[in-house]
Amino acid sequence: MRLKLLAALFAGGVVFSSSVLAHEPSVAAMLSNTCNGCHGTNGNSAGPNTANLGGVSSNYIVEQMKNFKSGERKSSIMGRLAKAYSDEEIALIGSFYSTQKYVGATQPTDAAKVARGKDLHKERCEKCHEEGGKVGQDEGILAGQWKETLGIAFNEFRSKARPMPKKMAAKIEGEAPLNDADIDALVHFYASQK
Ligand code: HEC
Ligand code: HEC
Repeated sequence: MRLKLLAALFAGGVVFSSSVLAHEPSVAAMLSNTCNGCHGTNGNSAGPNTANLGGVSSNYIVEQMKNFKSGERKSSIMGRLAKAYSDEEIALIGSFYSTQKYVGATQPTDAAKVARGKDLHKERCEKCHEEGGKVGQDEGILAGQWKETLGIAFNEFRSKARPMPKKMAAKIEGEAPLNDADIDALVHFYASQK
């Protein structure tokens, strides 16, 4: 009787562990449930202060999580949160989001600012943030992020709360530095892109 029970438990254990392996994506989905509370279902943020993560490259998400964890990128919430995850879990979360659909935010933009932002983008940013900021491996996705989130990102870079890549800094605060109106125009341009 006892032997039979043990055999059943053992069989159950084997079934359980192999199903966990077979369904690794759902472990990742489970881990990302915590994130969805703020970043939206499947990372499609309802905004305005949290970034869209669905469809963003796993490189970018993993890098940001590591920077939050180490404190290299200052944050209100993410630093404490990121510390709760191992590198393996962060990798799983990154690959989960990278395979979701990117859904750009629907939000009002100002046509004159969008036009000005488009010119600035072409001149200074397109080289790295290709296709109007729609694609990016290490750069993240700018097109269709919430205006507020984009504004926060610029503030973080300019106040040095977040390390800015040197070549990007040259385009923003180098020889011909961008002023607040230029930044606002860029925000409207990216927000207008889908
Ligand atoms: C309580 C709300 C909240 C939760 C839960 C949350 N985030 Fe965040 N997330 C934020 C905020 C706010 C920021 C902006 C940085 C900051 O101040 O913490 C952010 C920023 C980020 C960024 C940077 C976005 C960018 O464009 O650079 C990434 C990546 C991210 N979060 C991933 C995650 C992941 C992965 C999880 C789940 C493990 C998660 N977040 C859970 C609120 C949240
Ligand atoms: C040399 C390449 C390069 C150039 C040029 C560049 N960027 Fe970036 N940009 C990056 C990289 C790499 C990141 C990711 C930085 C990180 O890891 O935090 C980034 C991140 C960003 C972010 C934050 C994204 C997010 O989701 O939080 C914004 C906003 C941004 N860039 C705007 C611009 C604008 C505007 C220009 C032009 C004036 C520009 N960049 C030029 C490489 C570049």
